[in-house]
Amino acid sequence: MQITKASEAVGAIVEGVDLTSLTDDEFVEIREAFFDSGALFFRNQQLTPEDHIAFAERWNDIDINRFFTPVEGYPQIAKVLKEPDQEVNIGGGWHTDHSYDEIPAMGSILYALEIPPSGGDTLFAGMHAAYEALDDEMKVRLDGLQARHGNAHIFGKDSAYQKKFGGRFGNTESAVQEAIHPVVLSHPETGAKGLYVNPGFTLEIVDMDPAESTALLDELYAHIQQPQFHFRLQWQEGMLAMWDNRSTWHYALNDYQGHRRYLNRITIAGVPLDQASS
Ligand code: OGA
Ligand code: MN
Repeated sequence: MQITKASEAVGAIVEGVDLTSLTDDEFVEIREAFFDSGALFFRNQQLTPEDHIAFAERWNDIDINRFFTPVEGYPQIAKVLKEPDQEVNIGGGWHTDHSYDEIPAMGSILYALEIPPSGGDTLFAGMHAAYEALDDEMKVRLDGLQARHGNAHIFGKDSAYQKKFGGRFGNTESAVQEAIHPVVLSHPETGAKGLYVNPGFTLEIVDMDPAESTALLDELYAHIQQPQFHFRLQWQEGMLAMWDNRSTWHYALNDYQGHRRYLNRITIAGVPLDQASS
């Protein structure tokens, strides 16, 4: 097994491994590389839904996403699907999954079944590298802040996104969750400090004037959107990508209109998040 950095700030490529017959030693190495790099990419995997579930369960319990359509017979697996005639995709903007949950999902494991002839890449951003690159004044300013996250504006029954998505999301009435998390978290596995706000689900900084909160979030988002913190993943069928929602953002590019793109996703349960100590 070889593990090489995908980019300076985020991700690693794992080669020479078959995820259906992973030894315990290989898993230990993969786990360490995952928390260090924030995302792992494995090419040429032949996985049945059972294999996908078995791999996910090595990490933790499965966190079932209530809004996406499940694979028939496998409620644990969500379809990340865009049909040729569909205009809106899933994840077509910078975000991290499930930050609106009180105990946000640890990560997501996406397995590619059908990839368009070109396009449909996914961008990743590394939140530890982005935090470390902030100047000291900003680090002091962020110290102790908390942010409120929610999902009604995305998955709620009246959201513009749900309407554009043609009503394909389920359980829209239960999209009412909100959660408060630290703006700078201490990673639950490594203790590394990282930014934990995202344009998809973060609503505001708690106890801050709304205009000031928007300006601060916009400044952080502009910082994180600099390419030195990114990796761009070009998919192939049979590729499996997994990311740590506590230390990365991702963005599914929507540049393959007229083609089908289909991946299966399993979301892995996480733990409560701690504020980074100053
Ligand atoms: C997701 C997501 C990215 C992609 O499944 O959470 O954002 O590239 N998908 O499909
Ligand atoms: Mn996502």
